[in-house]
Amino acid sequence: DKPEDLKPRSPVVTVLGHVDHGKTTLLDSIRNTKVTTGEAGGITQHIGAYQVRANENKITFIDTPGHAAFTAMRARGAQVTDIAILVVAADDGVMPQTVEAINHVKAAGVPIIVAVNKIDRPTANVDKIKQEMANYNLVPEEWGGDTVFAEVSALKGEGIDNLLEMIVLVSEMQELKANPNALASGTVIESKLDKGRGPVATVLIRRGTLHVGDSIASGTAYGKVRAMINDKGKNIKKAKPSTPVEILGLSEAPQAGESFRVMENDKTARNLAQQKLNKDKNELMQNNSAVSLDDLFKSIQEGEIKDLNIIVKADVQGSCEAIKHSLEKLSDEKVNVKVIHTGVGAVNENDVMLASASSAIIIGFNVRPDTSAQKTAKKDGVDLRLYRIIYDAIEDVKKAMQGLLE
Ligand code: GTP
Ligand code: NA
Ligand code: MG
Repeated sequence: DKPEDLKPRSPVVTVLGHVDHGKTTLLDSIRNTKVTTGEAGGITQHIGAYQVRANENKITFIDTPGHAAFTAMRARGAQVTDIAILVVAADDGVMPQTVEAINHVKAAGVPIIVAVNKIDRPTANVDKIKQEMANYNLVPEEWGGDTVFAEVSALKGEGIDNLLEMIVLVSEMQELKANPNALASGTVIESKLDKGRGPVATVLIRRGTLHVGDSIASGTAYGKVRAMINDKGKNIKKAKPSTPVEILGLSEAPQAGESFRVMENDKTARNLAQQKLNKDKNELMQNNSAVSLDDLFKSIQEGEIKDLNIIVKADVQGSCEAIKHSLEKLSDEKVNVKVIHTGVGAVNENDVMLASASSAIIIGFNVRPDTSAQKTAKKDGVDLRLYRIIYDAIEDVKKAMQGLLE
C-alpha cells in the first residue's frame, strides 16, 4: 500500500489470562452485557469478538478462554492482536495460564496492559501481583518499569474508564493504519458448521473492506459471501479493517487461524482453494512421522516406540473409563499402552492437537469427529479410528501390537 492509501484503524485488543480471573466479566462490564451467565460451567470455550465505542474511539476486543485445554486459542488471540490485556485476579496471582499468556504475547511482540482484577475482594493484594508480574519482566511504571497496570473490579465496574483510556493511549502510540480501499484480507478467528446456516466463519478484517457478494478463499474453503453478521447480530453489507464479522457462504468451515482473502471472482477463489488442497495432500503423503496403528508393529520392532499414547472420546463417561481400563491392561514388556486423555463428546480440534503433540492415536466410541477435527487430523496425519463396539477397539490395538492388524 502507498502511504496515502493508509487510513487510521481501530485497535484490536485481546484479553488473556488464567481461567476464572475475570476476562469475560471484564468485557461484559465494558460492553454492558452478560455473556458470562450464559456460559456452560462458567467457562469460556471459544473466542468472542466485539467492537466497542469508547468516546470517539472504537476498540475491537477479543475474548479468549483461560482453561488449560485451550492453548491454541490463546496463541491465536495473541497473534491477531495489537494490544494484549493480561487479566490477573488480585486475590489469586500469577497462575500457569497467566504465564502461558505472557509467553504468547511476548512471542507476538505486542504491548501488554496488565489488568489487576477483583480488587473488590477482601483478600485482594495488588502489590503481590505487581511483584509476581515483575518476575516476568512486566515491571510497573511506578517501580521504574514500562508496563501499564490498571486496577479494576470487573464485577463492580470500577476502574473500567481508566483501563479504556490506557488502551486508547497505547494504541495512539502505535499509529495503527490500514488501506480500506483494497480487496479485503484478514484472519479466521473461529469457525463452525451450523445446522441451519452451513459453514460459519468469524473473521477479523486486517486490510480492505469486505462486502456481501465478495468471492473469498481461506485455506481449502472458498465461496461468495452470502451474508455478513456483526457482533450485535445485525446483518451488514460491508465491513472495514479491524472489524470482526461472521460470514456465511463458504464451501466448508475454514480452520481457525487460517488467513482469508478476497479474490477477483468465484473461479480464482476456487482455484486458490484447490491449490491449497493439493498442497495439503502432498504434505500428508510425505508426512510419515505420526504414529498410526497400521505401522505400530513396525515401530515396535525397530525399537522406535515404547509408549502407545491413546486419546479416548466416547458418548458416555462410563464407556471412556471402560475402554481406558481395557486398553491399558494390554500393556506388555514391549509396549506401554497409555490413555493420556478421555472425554465425552465429539472428537474436536483440541483432541487432535493434543494427539499431534503427543504422537497419540484417537479412538472415538459412538462419537464422530467434527469438521475441523477431521481436517486437522488429516493435515497432521493423526490416526483417528471410530468404533461402535468396545471389543473391536481393543482387538485392533491388540492386533496392532502383535503385527496382525489387517
Ligand atoms: P474463563 O473464560 O473460563 O477462563 O474465565 P474468565 O477469565 O472469563 O472469568 P469469568 O469472567 O468467567 O469470571 C469468573 C468468576 O469470577 C465469575 O464468578 C465472576 O463473577 C467472578 N469475577 C469476575 N470479575 C470479578 C471481580 O472484579 N470481582 C469479583 N469479586 N468477582 C469477579
Ligand atoms: Na470463567
Ligand atoms: Mg471467559
